[in-house]
Amino acid sequence: MARNIVLLGAQWGDEGKGKIVDLLTESADAVARFQGGHNAGHTLVINGHKTVLHLVPSGAMREGVECLIGNGVVVDLGQLMKEIRGLEENRVQIRSRLSVSPGCPLIMPYHRALDLAREKASGKRAIGTTGRGIGPCYEDKVARRGIRLMDLANPQVFASRLREVMAYHNHVLVHYLHSDPVDYQSCLEESLRLGEQVLPMMSDVSSKLCDWRDSGKSVIFEGAQGMLLDVDHGSYPYVTSSNTTAAAAAIGTGIGPLDLDFVLGIVKAYTTRVGFGPFPTELFDEVGQRLAERGHEFGATTGRPRRCGWLDVATLRRARQVCGLSALGVTKLDVMDGLDVVKICTGYRSADGTTLELPPYGADEMASCEPVYEELPGWMESSAGCREYGALPTNAKSYLDRLAELVGLPIDIVSTGAERDDTIILRHPFAG
Ligand code: IMP
Repeated sequence: MARNIVLLGAQWGDEGKGKIVDLLTESADAVARFQGGHNAGHTLVINGHKTVLHLVPSGAMREGVECLIGNGVVVDLGQLMKEIRGLEENRVQIRSRLSVSPGCPLIMPYHRALDLAREKASGKRAIGTTGRGIGPCYEDKVARRGIRLMDLANPQVFASRLREVMAYHNHVLVHYLHSDPVDYQSCLEESLRLGEQVLPMMSDVSSKLCDWRDSGKSVIFEGAQGMLLDVDHGSYPYVTSSNTTAAAAAIGTGIGPLDLDFVLGIVKAYTTRVGFGPFPTELFDEVGQRLAERGHEFGATTGRPRRCGWLDVATLRRARQVCGLSALGVTKLDVMDGLDVVKICTGYRSADGTTLELPPYGADEMASCEPVYEELPGWMESSAGCREYGALPTNAKSYLDRLAELVGLPIDIVSTGAERDDTIILRHPFAG
């Protein structure tokens, strides 16, 4: 029986992971975030009430569930406290069950300034980042000049490290990016003030997870973004700055890879992408517009409109291979209702005419691929709110069956609406 489940996006993010994590948390003791930061946006709708979480794990909405933020997550302390206060205003108590790893790199105001100034300076080669300082913070971590949560416990050491690192970044901001510098004193005071609020929640996440594994507790490792935004395996350089693949769950929390029992890949019934970069199945016609409108495809973090397109099995094969997916969870099936014909991209034709089963590494190579489509009949009946597989429109079931066959994985979960209960569970991941 599975105890530790990794749940991640198998596309370019925004697959509806938050809802599935929240749903499965009914059978879990804890939810752990392992990468990314508040570039993520997980929208949960419970009893008609909408909550958007960016940093706090989606298990927050279930009383008694422990929430962990692992060392792989970059933390903006101001954002974290804003979310905690927002939850408390809605009578969700979280502080006593939230643990933040001492190793979490902190996103500081100069990271945001660098992210924005760099995107502006990049012009046509901009990535289309969320502007939250994610990339510059991860860069500092790897360059070994990053400031981590634990550093706040010693204000004197923190102050001197901050001075050093800010001298470097302000130099880059002013002289290279022709932007404004960030003020040291206000950055120091604000960080120490926020540190006082967050340090009581600092805890050794790795040890907790190992203890829970020994005592048979169940944990969901909640991915952010999606596999195609992975810094190594995604459409580089149009990616985020962390590893979004399943192995990152081990590194980003401090648990051994063999302790991860099951990997559920969440797939939207079509494809979306925010930001720039290749997207072979992107639609520029009224079908794309229809998907965007029916699916409310606007970023939960930045409010930017998402690009929409047909389902792409080539990319899902890559996700299966890189993440070792055990099964799929398909979301937003109801958004596809009412189309005469639905298309699935079964592979690509490259610029030299070769047929490809998998997307090539490299953004330019991927952008030059033409999708190869298979057409299936659509369905006019509504699948919205369906809670039993048998009740789905016949052609919707054929679409799902074909998807499962092409990717070579079972579909364990189908989501047919935003509410917690608008879900069909064919096989429970914890039983897998
Ligand atoms: P960054 O993560 O802000 O550096 O942005 C890098 C790329 O990842 C951009 O294309 C963003 O739009 C995309 N991105 C980051 N977070 C998310 C997310 O949660 N959902 C979808 N796209 C994201």
